[in-house]
Amino acid sequence: KNDLYNKAKEVLVNNWKEGFSIPCAKLYPFQWFWDSGLIAIGFAHFDMEKAEQEIATLLDAQWGNGFIPHIIFHTESDTYFPGPDFHRSDLHPQASKKYRSTGMTQPPVTGFVLEEIYRISKDKSATLKFIESAIDKVYFNHEYFYNNRDPKNEGLVYIYHNWESGTDNSPIWDDIWDTMNPPEYTFERRDTTHVDASERPSKREYDHYLHIIDIAKENNYSDEKIAEYSPFLVQDPLFNALLIKSTESLIKLYELIGNNVEKINQLKLWQNKAITAFNDKLYDEALGVYVHYDLRNEKPLRFLSSSSFSPLFANIPNKERADRMVKVMMDKFGGDHQYLCASFDPESERFNPKKYWRGPVWVNLNWMLFNGLKQYGFNKVAHRMKQDTVALMENNGFYEYFDSRKEMHKNGDAGYGGNNFSWSAALLIDLLE
Ligand code: DGY
Repeated sequence: KNDLYNKAKEVLVNNWKEGFSIPCAKLYPFQWFWDSGLIAIGFAHFDMEKAEQEIATLLDAQWGNGFIPHIIFHTESDTYFPGPDFHRSDLHPQASKKYRSTGMTQPPVTGFVLEEIYRISKDKSATLKFIESAIDKVYFNHEYFYNNRDPKNEGLVYIYHNWESGTDNSPIWDDIWDTMNPPEYTFERRDTTHVDASERPSKREYDHYLHIIDIAKENNYSDEKIAEYSPFLVQDPLFNALLIKSTESLIKLYELIGNNVEKINQLKLWQNKAITAFNDKLYDEALGVYVHYDLRNEKPLRFLSSSSFSPLFANIPNKERADRMVKVMMDKFGGDHQYLCASFDPESERFNPKKYWRGPVWVNLNWMLFNGLKQYGFNKVAHRMKQDTVALMENNGFYEYFDSRKEMHKNGDAGYGGNNFSWSAALLIDLLE
């Protein structure tokens, strides 16, 4: 255990509030869905009680229909826009009465996080008790997804907002923005008072983001109506891969708990269908990786991104496809002058190595890819992924994202976005264990 490890613990302890963690002071002052899950993995290594509470609080905000929101606004804060008064989650008839939140979700990490916590735990029987108290809520969340987010019953769920993807301003969405013409909103950005505007989405992008929310609000956040009217409707490989990964974990954990045969059977039905559909529909033979599918405009969005490789984490590709994916990864993202793994195709003209999800390296994706590579036995590449990830934080600190170009790392200022960012610290702890 080294100095970096201890600093990571400090970041987590400082970002802990009452019963949950913020991703980062000022920039993200509430609880975020996928952040929370990944943060719990870090806490599990040194404070299991906090890890469990993090997840318990997240699940406490679940809606009557099984939905879990992407932001839970536990407190008032004037450092973030758009806040609860813009989102108006109360428009949905089954929204939580206890917490104000957004009306959109985020990648469903909770299932595999429970399994990770179990793996890390030194007191398995106590941890399994906690899992027993939480797992049905996660199951209910998966049921929500398959019953409400898959209108054609394909086995793949849609997201209706770029903020649901987690990869907020990916260049992939540019093709969708081209199909839209939202009004010019008047609002005050808060993020760009904390972080340099060159590292954040543009004003025009925010107009798109707000407009999609307005359409969802006009429809009281009804999934059916959103499927009909949202200009953004995408089957995202990262989102679906994490759902599949989490379903696999739920099956394993229910088997460990015992009984629950009906739930296990239902999970297996969802899972088989999902993996088949994923391989049939989202694999791009020419690119040799998985891509997004634009359901609204009925076309694949054929771009390389770190999400393209995320199916490795969920064991989705067969060995032959996995071999090819790793070759693409190393050819385009893994040169000697690069840190793995840029969030977007470094050879594309849309690549921007400083701008949020348009190119920088993210620790959460690297952690998933590291685990995926290991699972398939790509030990050398996995080792490189881990080394690069640790080096980024060693050189720069626990930033939100990092420059993938090695030449930029001479002065220790190639970390961008928020600093003392929780999931960077949490996953560093897991990588070093
Ligand atoms: C933001 O405000 O940029 C968040 O990432 C949205 O989830």
